[in-house]
Amino acid sequence: MSCLAPTRAALSQAAQALASGHLVAFPTETVYGLGADALNPDAVKRIFQVKGRPADHPLIVHVASLQAAQRLASDWPKTAQVLAETFWPGPLTLVVKRAPSVPNAVTGGQDTVGLRWPSQPAAQALLEAFAAIGSGAVAAPSANRFGGISPSQAQHVESALGAYLQPGDLILDDGPCGVGIESTIVDCTVNPVRVLRPGGISRAAIESALAIGPVSGSPQHEAHQPLPRVSGSLASHYAPKTPLLMLPAADLHEALQAQLARPESHSVLCWVRQLAPTHDPRVTQVLMPSRPELLAQQLYARLHEWDALGFDLLLVEAPALGPEWEAVRDRISRAAFDGEASHTP
Ligand code: TXA
Ligand code: MG
Repeated sequence: MSCLAPTRAALSQAAQALASGHLVAFPTETVYGLGADALNPDAVKRIFQVKGRPADHPLIVHVASLQAAQRLASDWPKTAQVLAETFWPGPLTLVVKRAPSVPNAVTGGQDTVGLRWPSQPAAQALLEAFAAIGSGAVAAPSANRFGGISPSQAQHVESALGAYLQPGDLILDDGPCGVGIESTIVDCTVNPVRVLRPGGISRAAIESALAIGPVSGSPQHEAHQPLPRVSGSLASHYAPKTPLLMLPAADLHEALQAQLARPESHSVLCWVRQLAPTHDPRVTQVLMPSRPELLAQQLYARLHEWDALGFDLLLVEAPALGPEWEAVRDRISRAAFDGEASHTP
């Protein structure tokens, strides 16, 4: 496995690798993806092995144009057309009925497929190069082990998956991802459409593009679904190994004192909007960005960094309740799930 900058030569090598059934981890504007030829079931199976992900969790298929997406769908509703025209290329995944050419290995046996045309230039160049010599359809989940923190930089991919990749597999390194959290997933098989996962495109932007009222269907409400349609909807997901507690600003001080009162407490990281005066050497404070896009951009890199530093607890101030904070709030609260279970009194 090698890690390459996305030069012309590297992109053509990566397209060849996909065409021969290898895996290619590549940057997108949201997070790094672990890609395989979506129309090659054996290659797709390797994604599940490397990620350690259950085989019934469907993968998003990445393409290089709107027409390429339409070819992978058996039905292309008006809503999908409007959303694609408005937000593609970009951080939006559209769930539609799949074409017969899309293998079961990609969809987890469901009759729908998630499709995305990403905007990141190296991702586009890779998809175009692969379209010239192969199917041009790249199935790619986020390039992390199942349940772990998503990668917003190539070194996150290398440290999480390096040991599982094989000779012939590649990682393309084009620096940090601009959006930093995953795409918004919109189910266009129902009318009105539903947001299955909040992400890079806000719910308000989707409502406004479709000129409709509030769009419902957050993943939390999908527990009754017989199939795990969105694996990111498992309550514990995107989780660091270090316990993480997300609390409103007003409750942070008390939680910190409670943690410091524990005899085994050596170091606590606080990610807060306002630094509080403290001289306790066990406490490290980091200022949280005051804009949702900046918080999204930094979130996974911070979690990776702090997880490696071995804090006893990550104490994170809950983002505001406003709609523009929905996606980052969703990701932090899922990262907090394990911590919450063991720390709430
Ligand atoms: O930004 C992103 O979406 C990144 C980049 C690499 O594109 N990809 C990503 O993939 O986050 P992944 O597999 O980590 O999360 C995609 C989610 C999964 O939870 C999966 O269940 C859901 O998309 N999904 C895929 N196909 C689906 C379908 N047909 N119906 C409902 N959910 C689907
Ligand atoms: Mg993921």
